[in-house]
This record gives sequence, structure tokens and C-alpha cells, in this order.
Amino acid sequence: MKAIQKIAVIGGGGRTGQYLVNQLIEKGYSLKLLLRHPENFTIDSPLIEIVHGDVLDQEAVRMLLDGCGAILSTVGQRKDEPLVASQASVNILNAIGDRPMRYVVLAGLNVDTPTDEKGEETLKATQWMKATFPTIHNDRQKSYSVLAGSNTEWVMVRVPYIEFNGNRAGVKVNLTDCPGSKIDAADIAGFMIGQLTDDTWLRKAPFISN
Ligand SMILES: NC(=O)c1ccc[n+]([C@@H]2O[C@H](COP(=O)([O-])OP(=O)(O)OC[C@H]3O[C@@H](n4cnc5c(N)ncnc54)[C@H](OP(=O)(O)O)[C@@H]3O)[C@@H](O)[C@H]2O)c1
Repeated sequence: MKAIQKIAVIGGGGRTGQYLVNQLIEKGYSLKLLLRHPENFTIDSPLIEIVHGDVLDQEAVRMLLDGCGAILSTVGQRKDEPLVASQASVNILNAIGDRPMRYVVLAGLNVDTPTDEKGEETLKATQWMKATFPTIHNDRQKSYSVLAGSNTEWVMVRVPYIEFNGNRAGVKVNLTDCPGSKIDAADIAGFMIGQLTDDTWLRKAPFISN
């Protein structure tokens, strides 16, 4: 496989996204970040190019992907804003087109897939999410359907409660049920970057936890 030179990142200014950006820089990747508020972004590196824009804007996503070999997204729903997850995936898949470009996206454990065998804890967390944020949950579920119907090289990484300590503790992976109740953002970042070159979970939605 040809080495990926430049990676597009969406959500890179967010809490998990900053771990992702820092680890990508440490690995020497050139990055293009789509940011709605570049003025708030504090990571400084010559490897970073910023595209000012919104993932809901198809043209901004096309500009972001120009010259990139892969895309990572940690985009998250903001309160009182238009739903973002499913439309982001539609726009990203449209912009990828027929290119052999990997799309790795972060999601919560509440997303359901046909091969799931969710245990008690995962089901409880899923039911809570469905009852508390039904619209956001449905949009995330729609995002999975959009990916499931696509031939693009996608991986949806499903996670439980995220901690932001920066301590890497090792990652457990399971396709049918979430193996634990929390995960550090640093481990999410490491796993997502691994998916750029690992085919194990291609077109699947593995759960990961510490
Ligand atoms: N936190 C948890 O415990 C947890 C658990 C399970 C799953 N997750 C999922 O993990 C992901 C990351 O979580 P997080 O806590 O790191 O999220 P976060 O800090 O809220 O970051 C979300 C990012 O998405 C960006 N964003 C939102 N709407 C956008 C748009 N329309 N265009 C471009 N960028 C947009 C935000 O940018 P702005 O600064 O411009 O708003 C921000 O950088 C989310 O999908 C979340 O649902 C989180």
C-alpha cells in the first residue's frame, strides 16, 4: 500500500480530536484540519494546514480532502446546532467518491449494528442514550447506515465514556459488545491512527475500551 502523506481531520479542535492531532504530528504526518473557529485552535505545528469551514458544507469538505490520502473524524454534536453526524458522513463519502481513501470515524457505543450481541452494561448505556438524546442517537444510527451502504474503506470506532487523562492503558477490541466502561482519549487516538493501515476492522464498527 502507498504510504499516506497527508491526512484530513474533522473535529481536531475538540477534546478527543486534540489527542488525535498531537499523535499524528508526533508520527510526522502532514495534516489538513477543518475548523469552524481556527482562532481557538492552539496546537502549533508546521505540519498543520487549516481549512476554515463547516463539515455540513459540502464544498468545504471537498477542499479539505484535496491532496489528502485519508480522513479521520471525531466530530461531535454541539447543543442547539443542526444534526451533524449523518450529514458529515454523506458529505465525506461524496467528497471521497471512487478514491481509495480510508475514512475512520468516532462514535458512541449506543450505535447498533446487525452483528451486535450487546451485554447488560452496553444495553443499559444504549437505552440511556436513546431515551435521553433520541434525535442525536437516531442521527448517529443514520450515520452508520450511510457507511454500511458504502463501498468506501470506512471504520466506525465505537467507544464508551471518554476520559481525558492522556494515559495510554492498552485497548481491548470487540466487534459484538463493548469490552469495558471507559477509555482514555489518548488510546482512542492511537487506535484510530492504527486503522489507517490495519484492515482488520475494515467496513466494521468495533467497540474499544481500556
Ligand atoms: N465524551 C464522551 O464521553 C463520548 C463518549 C462516547 C462517544 N463520544 C463521541 O466522540 C466524539 C468526540 O467527543 P469529544 O467529547 O471529543 O467531542 P467535542 O470535544 O465536543 O468535539 C467535537 C468537535 O466537533 C466539531 N464540530 C461540531 N460540529 C461541527 C461542524 N458542523 N463542522 C465542523 N466541526 C464540527 C467541534 O468543533 P467546534 O469547536 O467548532 O464546535 C469539535 O471540534 C463525538 O462524536 C462524541 O459523540 C464521546
